[in-house]
Amino acid sequence: MRIHLLGTGAGGGFPQWNCNCDNCSRLRTGTIKSTPRTQSSITISANDEDWVLFNASPDIRAQIESFRPLQPARKIRDTGISAIILCDAQIDHTTGLIIMREHDKPWDIYCTSAVYEDMTTGYPIFNMLSHFRGVNWHEVKTDQSTFTIPKIDNLIFTAVPLKSEAPPYSPHRHATVAGDNVGFKIEDSNTRKNLFYAPGLGEIEEHVLEYMRNADCVLIDGTVWTNDEMSRHGISDKLASEMGHLDQSSKGGIMEILSSLKKPRKILIHINNTNPILDEDSPERKKLNTSGIEVSFDGMEIEI
Ligand code: MLT
Ligand code: MN
Ligand code: ZN
Repeated sequence: MRIHLLGTGAGGGFPQWNCNCDNCSRLRTGTIKSTPRTQSSITISANDEDWVLFNASPDIRAQIESFRPLQPARKIRDTGISAIILCDAQIDHTTGLIIMREHDKPWDIYCTSAVYEDMTTGYPIFNMLSHFRGVNWHEVKTDQSTFTIPKIDNLIFTAVPLKSEAPPYSPHRHATVAGDNVGFKIEDSNTRKNLFYAPGLGEIEEHVLEYMRNADCVLIDGTVWTNDEMSRHGISDKLASEMGHLDQSSKGGIMEILSSLKKPRKILIHINNTNPILDEDSPERKKLNTSGIEVSFDGMEIEI
């Protein structure tokens, strides 16, 4: 399967429009060794023709323009995207649906009933799309059963329930239900190789660790280096854990857990603009390098 990373930043992207943090300001002045990042989204195909989009970011328009296989090429209006999978109902993962309202038929969207509820209440994008071509909702179960998607040949999907947070506008904010956040195992039925993808991970429970151990590649939450990163910058009074993100550097954090895994290639995605690992010359980035953990960038390709 071919995995193309459309956007590797967290909500807000890098640089964020109103942010004057060390990373954002140094990126603007060209004094950091780093690259801009759009908001969180990836696309996968096993036949190079039919692509499944994971999460629809507010940057989807530019992301499609950055990747030829997703662009119109077969008729007056079309796209290489055959279906959309949502991991959660966060703004950075769903707002692109509004941008893609001109689709010539209802979008086939795969998400849990918890996400469907958010998308029809607190952030009612699905209701809004019903005034265009509408949404063909396919319920993704949280019982870890597998499913396939028409036209997306050779890929087998499993949703993996995760401990994280529901969005601020969700009816389940602070009282999360199964399905508010899911990761995905994506297996290629020809090669039997699999990716584990989880851009929002608040806690790594035993069942999640098992998916990670057995993956050929893990592509997971790289939001923050430290739990208090945003409050220390005077940006937010919230801890990353309160937003459903496990930090990289603490004991039991993402770096320690990834370091214990023998089999998979390990890559971080959904990186917040405050995270020092965005600076390729930083000591934090060097620590990751030494641990064999990669930091993704927009346009990165993974073939497994
Ligand atoms: C998150 O990942 O916690 C959210 O996307 C934050 C946001 O709304 O930008
Ligand atoms: Mn996010
Ligand atoms: Zn910033």
